[in-house]
Amino acid sequence: MAGWWVEAWKVFARSHWGGSPVQREARDTVGSGQWISNVPTRSPGLNSVCPRVPGLSGPMAPFRIRQYEDGDYEAVCTMFGRGIMEHTPAAYIHMLKHPQAQLHFLGLFLAVLAASGSVLVSLLALLLALTGAWFCIWSLWNYYAQQFLCNNLLDIRRTYLEAADSCLWVAEAEGAVVGMVGAVLPDDPSERGHALQLKRMSVGREYRGRGIAKALCRTVIRFAQERGYSAVVLATFMVHYSAQQLYESMGFRRVSERSPSLLDSFLQFSLLYYRYEIPGSR
Ligand SMILES: CC(C)(COP(=O)(O)OP(=O)(O)OC[C@H]1O[C@@H](n2cnc3c(N)ncnc32)[C@H](O)[C@@H]1OP(=O)(O)O)[C@@H](O)C(=O)NCCC(=O)NCCS
Repeated sequence: MAGWWVEAWKVFARSHWGGSPVQREARDTVGSGQWISNVPTRSPGLNSVCPRVPGLSGPMAPFRIRQYEDGDYEAVCTMFGRGIMEHTPAAYIHMLKHPQAQLHFLGLFLAVLAASGSVLVSLLALLLALTGAWFCIWSLWNYYAQQFLCNNLLDIRRTYLEAADSCLWVAEAEGAVVGMVGAVLPDDPSERGHALQLKRMSVGREYRGRGIAKALCRTVIRFAQERGYSAVVLATFMVHYSAQQLYESMGFRRVSERSPSLLDSFLQFSLLYYRYEIPGSR
């Protein structure tokens, strides 16, 4: 599914990469290629002892976090696209659970029943509406994935590595990119100067539950702290349940919830906004 995005964006990306120097500040902070083997994880000593995990056939591979490099582009776009699209079923169920949506479907069923007098026809109409709603949600989710890829994964070097106080990191295990996260100036202008925004958090399915996202999160917090910011902010969709658990377990506080548009509001889509106050900061 993500294949065509990658191909399309590869072409754009190649024309944008001019081989300009990587932002030195960011590289110094993380140390490209530097092993961060002492990152505390859910299981202490995870990286050194390689315990076995239920459901996985082999021992856990150690991981490291390093700054993004041009060669990671395809892996990063694919991982991010998959990370978004995997939430489509959850978004659909979320919509179906909402009383307003249930009323609409019930209303449709009763209206067709009254008009046709046939339960079978009414059921078919309901099935059609449910299928339509699925495609509507799938398209909206797909649209979001493309927007995100276009908005700031199209030219990663310019957005994350050359921009002030921004960076993109990847988690690498067994020579492959298995996780990613970025830090940028906040979308909300009123937050600029006080906070950095965490973006594009994603971990490959096979590598989840090993503390990689927590390590990536800490990397962003440390980066913000070292640059004198007092907070890290982020936004996540209402159906990113594990991400919400992750951020709350890291000490992020939910500050608000908003629907990006009227259509989102109709489909019960909303964004949750989180904030982490860096301890000891002004
Ligand atoms: C959310 C995500 C990044 C977590 O990655 P991960 O490497 O598995 O997370 P970690 O192993 O570091 O777990 C950290 C915490 O996250 C929470 N968490 C992670 N997966 C969870 C799950 N399936 N259910 C509930 N909580 C979960 C837990 O609080 C966990 O802490 P704990 O182990 O002390 O309980 C990963 O599931 C993912 O990439 N999902 C798809 C993309 C996405 O939703 N991105 C977020 C966009 S804002």
